[in-house]
Amino acid sequence: MKIRKAVFPVAGLGTRFLPATKAMPKEMLTVVDRPLIQHVVDEALEAGIEHLVFVTGRNKGVIEDHFDRPYELEDTLRERNKLKEMDILERDQPDAGATSFTRQQAPLGLGHAVWCARDIIGNEPFAVLLPDVLVKNKPSGLKQMIDAANAAGADKANIIAVEEVPMDQVHMYGVVGVGPAKGDLFELDGMVEKPKKESAPSNLSITGRYILQPEIFKVLETQPKGAGGEIQLTDAMLGLAKSQPFYGFKFKGKSYDCGSKSGFLAANIAYAMDREDLRSDLLMEMKKYI
Ligand code: G1P
Repeated sequence: MKIRKAVFPVAGLGTRFLPATKAMPKEMLTVVDRPLIQHVVDEALEAGIEHLVFVTGRNKGVIEDHFDRPYELEDTLRERNKLKEMDILERDQPDAGATSFTRQQAPLGLGHAVWCARDIIGNEPFAVLLPDVLVKNKPSGLKQMIDAANAAGADKANIIAVEEVPMDQVHMYGVVGVGPAKGDLFELDGMVEKPKKESAPSNLSITGRYILQPEIFKVLETQPKGAGGEIQLTDAMLGLAKSQPFYGFKFKGKSYDCGSKSGFLAANIAYAMDREDLRSDLLMEMKKYI
């Protein structure tokens, strides 16, 4: 399975983080010193993604700037001989032509956001990564998915990353039903977006990492609104599952739901504790609160 392109839906309004997100996209909130979106792009690049497709919206221009070459800043750093800082910028710089930006013109839901990328993706399988979710692991979440698909001979399939959540949280997520295993994957036995606890098929939530076949766009084109009055990717996947294989994959590592404040703060602590230059100071500081 060769996945060249990844879609990052980054048009969301970020209302849960107001006022921080009044003038700044939520995807630019930092986990330690990297914006959320940069962490998720890192994950995609580690998995071999070559082209990054951002589905943006109004007031998201700074995301585009973040992935551009800041030549004024580079000139100044060079003049001042700040080699370390130059290296930091260089490392994260996507190749020329390796990014695309398109706009979701109205907040019609995740399914609609993915559909907005159809012309840029074309007729090949692709990944979708939601920047609200950080998967902390080596190899990265997406890399694990691609490896598992290849190992199971499921290279023409659609794959969805899932993880266990407490039953009283299933209403916040897409939830899948579990069918027979195939290597590290399992066949999906249905999926439902934001179910009530009583009707959820399991406690396995969809974690914001997908590998999809291009036929999903045809389904999305006519997908009616679902949960929350939005065009849901989960509903479209359910439609495509009638004609194509769909598998779930439980990744290794911990995920952080950075769409919630506590998840975002937990991610900051976890990523900072991994850093040699920050760990001991942070630990000392945290001891004051424990
Ligand atoms: C989206 C998906 C949902 C998934 C979740 C993961 O929901 O629709 O299936 O479980 O992301 O974060 P949202 O958080 O956009 O409401």
